[in-house]
Amino acid sequence: MNQQTYGVAFTGSGSAKLETVLTNEQMTRVVDTSDEWITTRTGIRQRHIANVTDSIRSLGGEAARQAIASAGLEPADIDLIILATSTPDDLFGSACQIQHEIGAARAVAFDITAACSGFVFSLVTAAQFIRTGAYQNIVVVGADLLSRLTDWSDRRTCVLFGDGAGAIVMQRCETGDRLLSFEMHSDGSKNDCLNAAYKHESAPLVDDITIQNGQFTPVDMNGREVYRFAVKRVPEVLEKSLFHAGISTDDVDWLILHQANQRILDAAAQRLGIPAERVVSNMANHGNTDAASIPIALDEWVRTGKIKAGDTLALSGFGAGLSWGAAILKWGQ
Ligand code: UT7
Repeated sequence: MNQQTYGVAFTGSGSAKLETVLTNEQMTRVVDTSDEWITTRTGIRQRHIANVTDSIRSLGGEAARQAIASAGLEPADIDLIILATSTPDDLFGSACQIQHEIGAARAVAFDITAACSGFVFSLVTAAQFIRTGAYQNIVVVGADLLSRLTDWSDRRTCVLFGDGAGAIVMQRCETGDRLLSFEMHSDGSKNDCLNAAYKHESAPLVDDITIQNGQFTPVDMNGREVYRFAVKRVPEVLEKSLFHAGISTDDVDWLILHQANQRILDAAAQRLGIPAERVVSNMANHGNTDAASIPIALDEWVRTGKIKAGDTLALSGFGAGLSWGAAILKWGQ
C-alpha cells in the first residue's frame, strides 16, 4: 500500500463584489430597531444584499475565478470544487453549477452544508484529498445568500445577516504541509438553538399513505444561547488547535473568526491574549455572511497586503448544528 502523504498549500483567494448595500438606517425602516442597538450589540453597520439576478452560482463562480487566477492557475487545472453553503440555488447542490459557470470541466464538485462552520469543514475536507494524493488543485468556496432564509419581520435575526461569497485555492505542496492542525466538533443536542428547519403537515396521498407537505422555514436563533456557546467553544477549539500545531498565540499573525458578532471576536481574542490589531474584522461592512464570512475576510486581508505569504492564520467557524471548528495554517505557496 502506498503510504506516501502530501503537503497542503494555500495559494489563492477571491471574493465576489456585491453592489447593493443595506445600512442600519435602512433596517430601521424594515423593523423596530436602531443603528445604535445594532452597532453596539454586534458591530455591524451595513450588509450587502444580492440583486435579483445574483445567485450562488454567479457569486460563488466570481469568487472561485478570482481565487484560481490569484493562484496562477486556469479553471481547467482544478480537480475538485467544494462549495460550503446553506442557501444553494438547487437543493441537490450548487457546486456543479459553479463548475460549469467557471469552465472547470475536469473538476468533480459537491456541496457541504455545515452553516457557519461550513468553510472550515470544507477546507479540512479538501486537505484530506490532497494529503492522500487523490487531487492536486482544489477550490473551496464559501457562499451564502442568507437574505433568502431571513425572516424580515424578526428584528432579533434580520439585522445580523448579509450575502456574499469567498473562495480559496488549496494545492499539493512538495515542500511541507501548511495546514498545521485542525479541529471539528458537532453537538446536535443543541440544534434547536439555531436552525432553518423543514416544517410540514401530513397530507393524504392515496389509500393509507400520507406524505409530508411543507417547506423550509426562515432562520430561527436563540441569540443568547448561541452567544454563550460561541464565547466558550471558540477560544477552546483554538487553544486545542494551537497546541496540536505546536505553536502559541504569540505565533498567530491573524485571527480570522466567523464574523458573527464583534463582541464574540473581542471576547475570544481577549481570552486567547491576541491583540485587536491581529484580529480580522470586516463585519461592520458585511454583517454575518454564514459560510462566506471567513473566505471574504481572508481575501480582503490578502488583497490589501495585510496577510502575506508565510503568515500564520488561526481560523474558526461556529454556528448552526451546533457545530464549530478551527484550522491553523500558513498562508502562501
Ligand atoms: O452565525 C452563527 C452564529 N451566530 C452567533 O454567534 C450569534 C450569537 N448571538 C449574538 O450575537 C447576540 O445574542 C445577538 C446579537 C443576536 C443579540 O444580542 P444580545 O445582546 O444577546 O441581545 P438579546 O437577544 O439578549 O436582546 C436584548 C434586548 C431584548 O429586549 P428586552 O427583552 O431586553 O426588552 C430584545 O428584544 O434587545 C432586544 N432586541 C432588539 N432591539 C432593537 C433584539 N433585537 C433587537 C434589534 N433592535 N434588532
